[in-house]
This record gives sequence, C-alpha cells and structure tokens, in this order.
Amino acid sequence: MAEATAPGKVILCGEHFVVYGEPAIVAAIDLKAHAYASFRDEPGIHVYSSKVSENTLKPIHDVIKLLVESRGTKLIDKGLMVSINSNIPISAGLGSSAAVSVASILAVSKLLGFKLKKSEVVALGVKAEEIIHGRPSGIDPTISVYGGMLVFKIGGRIRRIKPARPIELIIADSGLKRSTGVMVRRVGELASKHPTIFSRLRSTARIIVRQAIEAIIEGDIEKLGVMLNLNHGLLSAIGVSNTRLEKLIYAAREAGALGSKITGAGGGGCIIAIARPGESDRIVSSLIDAGAEAVYRTRIVEVGAR
Ligand code: MEV
Repeated sequence: MAEATAPGKVILCGEHFVVYGEPAIVAAIDLKAHAYASFRDEPGIHVYSSKVSENTLKPIHDVIKLLVESRGTKLIDKGLMVSINSNIPISAGLGSSAAVSVASILAVSKLLGFKLKKSEVVALGVKAEEIIHGRPSGIDPTISVYGGMLVFKIGGRIRRIKPARPIELIIADSGLKRSTGVMVRRVGELASKHPTIFSRLRSTARIIVRQAIEAIIEGDIEKLGVMLNLNHGLLSAIGVSNTRLEKLIYAAREAGALGSKITGAGGGGCIIAIARPGESDRIVSSLIDAGAEAVYRTRIVEVGAR
C-alpha cells in the first residue's frame, strides 16, 4: 500500500478574480486529505470514500486513469483501489476536492513507482478540477502541492510569502453546501453582461491583493484586516455572498475581528476572520452563537502534499 497526504487551503484575498488572471493570496491549512493506494484482484480503478458517492469521485477516477495510461502502465489481471479519508469539509471553499485529487495522484504514483514533478501533480489536479467545475484557475491544486503561503496568478511564477508575524486565522463553516462551478459561472455571466464595471472591480481586487501582500510581509495585521474587509465588499458586489454568510462575517467583526470575508467560491461554505493575538476566543464564541456549523482555529502549514 502507498499513502499520501495533501492539505486544504484558505484564500486570503483574490478568489474569483483569480479566474480572470488577477493574483490571489492562498495558504495551506492543517486540515488534510489522506489517500491510500493498493492493488486489487479485480481489474479497473476503484476510488472509495465513506463520505461521498462514487459518482462524486468520478473526476478523481478519470484523472488516475489518465495518469496510469499516460505512463503506458498495463495492470495485467489486477486493478487499483484508492481509499480516501479527509477531514476537510466538502463543498465549503477549503479546497477539499483539490486536496483529495492531489493526495490520490501522489499515492497512485508512489504505488506504481512514477516520479512526478510537483508541476505534473498540479497539472493533473487541475484536470480533475476542470471536470468538477469547468473553469478552475488552478489555485487549489497548486497550494495543496506546494504548501505554505503563496501568491498565485494564472500562468505566473509561484511566489512564496512569509508572514512577518503569525496570523491568527479563524474559519467558520456556514454549513451551506454549494457548487464552485455554479458560483464561477454566475460571476462569468455578470462579467459578460457588465464588462466595464467588472474590469474596474478586477483592477480594484488586484490593488487590494498587492496591499494585502505588503501587510503580510510587514506584519501589519490591522492593514491586512482592512484588505480582507475590502475584498469581501467586492465579493458581495459580484453576488457570491448571502444572508447566512453576512451574518457570520458581521458576527466576527462585532466580536473584534480585524477583518472577515468569504473564502473560496462563496454562495455558502466558509468565511475567515483574523484576530489580534489572544483575541480569537471571543470571535469563536460569537461565530458559534451566530449559527456557524463548525469553527476552526487554523494554522498555516508549510509542507504541501507528500
Ligand atoms: C476556488 O477555491 C476559488 C475560485 O476562485 C475558483 C478558482 O480559482 O478555481 C472561486
């Protein structure tokens, strides 16, 4: 048996606009997917998880098939079993599908003795995301493979950034499931109906991301908080927020968060909040009182998939 693990993620700034070529800041978190690959007697590839249906795992099955076939490997009289175990909430904006794909790809390559470069694992992860949601930027598989905190831009060089001070990050799950594909398409419709306005929102998102990078590098968490709030304003403007998410976002701010915003595709899923050192407790209880299904205090993890 071969085992691999890959982290989930939070986007600190720049989701959705990243699909249109703008930069985004993303960090790997200490929620993880594990994949175990082994041979089985029956032919074919079988992907299994106790949490989701086989149909949901079809994109992962397809990408593993592609990987095996692209290497010309013939599995005579035997097949592959990939079993998944993940503690990343599903359809919640935390990169669960990318982490599961990346862990599965790595586990299968270990089992079959393939030596894949990080960029090849990312490329296969992006293929799975394409099947799942149509128009991925590639940010989710990239952070899952590389870990740490990155500035990501389609077609750009990956830039690693180091926060000057640790960031106290809180994640609250609204419990509302949503599809990234639906949200990305909805934003696409708005962008094509209102191109002039959308292009202004895009350039504003770019400036917010740049200022947020500076704030992170300088350790100015007050400024980072303002950037998160401004970024959330843009996400509301493009229609990916809703009453439940706004309730959590304002509950965090009213309890002292320096900034709070949707993370990921929105429409449901998670929000993030950042706190001054030692001030997380009040924010966590306020998020629970405001109806969050789960609240996580998160650590940014340096290691990516392995
Ligand atoms: C998903 O984590 C973030 C989106 O920007 C989509 C993508 O970049 O693939 C909404």
